[in-house]
Amino acid sequence: MPQWLKDAVFYEIYPQSFYDANGDGIGDFEGIMRKLDYIRDLGCNALWINPCFDSPFKDAGYDVRDYKKTAPRYGSNDDLCRLFAEAHRRRMRVLLDLVPGHTSEEHLWFRESRKAEKNEYSHRYIWSDSWIAWGLEGLRFIAGESERNGVYIINFFKSQPALNYGFLRPREPWQLPADHAESIATREALKDIMRFWLDAGCDGFRVDMADSLVKFDDEEKSGTQAVWRNIRAMLDSDYPEAALVSEWGNPFQALAAGFHMDFLLDHDHSGYRSLVRDFGYGPDNLPLGENNSFFKSGGRGDITRFLDQYLPWYEAAKGKGYISLITGNHDTPRISAGLDERELALAYALFLSFPGVPFIYYGDEIGMRYLPGLPSKEGGYTRTGSRTPMQWNEDSGGTANKGFSAAAPESLYLPVDPLPGAPTVEAQKDDPASLLNTVRSLLALRHGEPDLQAEPNLEILYAEKEKLPFVYRRGAFVLALNPGAAPARAPVSVAGARLVFSIGGAALEGGVCALEARSFGVWKTGT
Ligand code: NOJ
Ligand code: CA
Repeated sequence: MPQWLKDAVFYEIYPQSFYDANGDGIGDFEGIMRKLDYIRDLGCNALWINPCFDSPFKDAGYDVRDYKKTAPRYGSNDDLCRLFAEAHRRRMRVLLDLVPGHTSEEHLWFRESRKAEKNEYSHRYIWSDSWIAWGLEGLRFIAGESERNGVYIINFFKSQPALNYGFLRPREPWQLPADHAESIATREALKDIMRFWLDAGCDGFRVDMADSLVKFDDEEKSGTQAVWRNIRAMLDSDYPEAALVSEWGNPFQALAAGFHMDFLLDHDHSGYRSLVRDFGYGPDNLPLGENNSFFKSGGRGDITRFLDQYLPWYEAAKGKGYISLITGNHDTPRISAGLDERELALAYALFLSFPGVPFIYYGDEIGMRYLPGLPSKEGGYTRTGSRTPMQWNEDSGGTANKGFSAAAPESLYLPVDPLPGAPTVEAQKDDPASLLNTVRSLLALRHGEPDLQAEPNLEILYAEKEKLPFVYRRGAFVLALNPGAAPARAPVSVAGARLVFSIGGAALEGGVCALEARSFGVWKTGT
């Protein structure tokens, strides 16, 4: 287990939209380098960068055409290596985004694989043995597109053919077992890519659709788990400081598979969703109606819904790895949808004081908005509104684009939030009460106290169905959160403790935590 994870806080960067250093309208590696001090000063000491490899960008880069070459629009391989070095100089780490389950249909492997004559890559993807789709049993496939006699399996979009890690329980002759030499060859090719970037200086990977590798897997995903255990063994022996975080959404399985961290993904988990953004959802996976998030002061939030789901995972993760809570990511609606600034601050107070390794999505620290109604960009569809340019500065004196880029506004990758008063770093940086500075203070508190970092020491002191506040202990600290519109007291004695952090009004009254409406307090005991 890499020791640096104990105090890691990640910042997710969608490279298209972070900072455009050369004025062509799209973010780049140089732009990220220029903003590393900002990220470090915020209190994030690690980055996850969404895929930045050569790609036709039919899915924002999750359709990789060449795993070992960066997309020219972001810069060269050398530029990315410079970014690693600049990050390391600031004691920061960098995770790249690894897409193991599929490639672009334009990847060389696939262009070879689709040929009628057999070659080295014929089995790199999953092909049936007839152009008529027999025996597919729920696998999604594309037919009629190649000279090869067969149909091929896809993992996500049409442009993303699934790599072949074999089948746990093959049912047709063309379904190779997971221990077949060809299935193993795919795994080894993946390890080769990982070694390439680890040798170049990256610190590990966020792994896309990590549970999707072996097909017809069992409930436990034991076939896919075996692939990752093999890969983890390579890391343990050759790259013990490298970290892996999975897009799996099931810490029981993901940590057993060898991941160091697993994301809870709010689209899969209603308890987590009740915490973050509890709307009704429409067919487009867009929020409808009222937000009943736990943090909503007028809402019907109930912390027990979240804890019922979280605590069993938390217990299971102990000693194996960490759960990663996210403020959001490039696939979710922005957390700010339906929460006001104080509610956001309270949400971050919980995320950034819980065990595990938290991830902040760029712009959430200033409360960037979800931009509704944008035309789909690079396969984003409704996700596009969460991927707009970072808002650095106020527009003044003829500047536009909120400091993201010097390009003409119409040639930006995506439009900047046009709303007057849209949040910016500049407007918040000198205001001690701003969301930005609240995040900074929360992270400073966390970095200063090992009890408030990743290791599992959580004790629930007060969490009652439909009641407030929520009170928990972490080592020497008692933390209490009251998102409600009325004051709340918890029957938890913290006599003699010292208040070390608060949002809104928090105090000890008669030895118990007393919280004003919409507030949060952290007390240090035993000193
Ligand atoms: C999950 C990624 O987060 C998402 O953006 C992408 O479209 C799919 N996986 C397919 O790779
Ligand atoms: Ca650029």
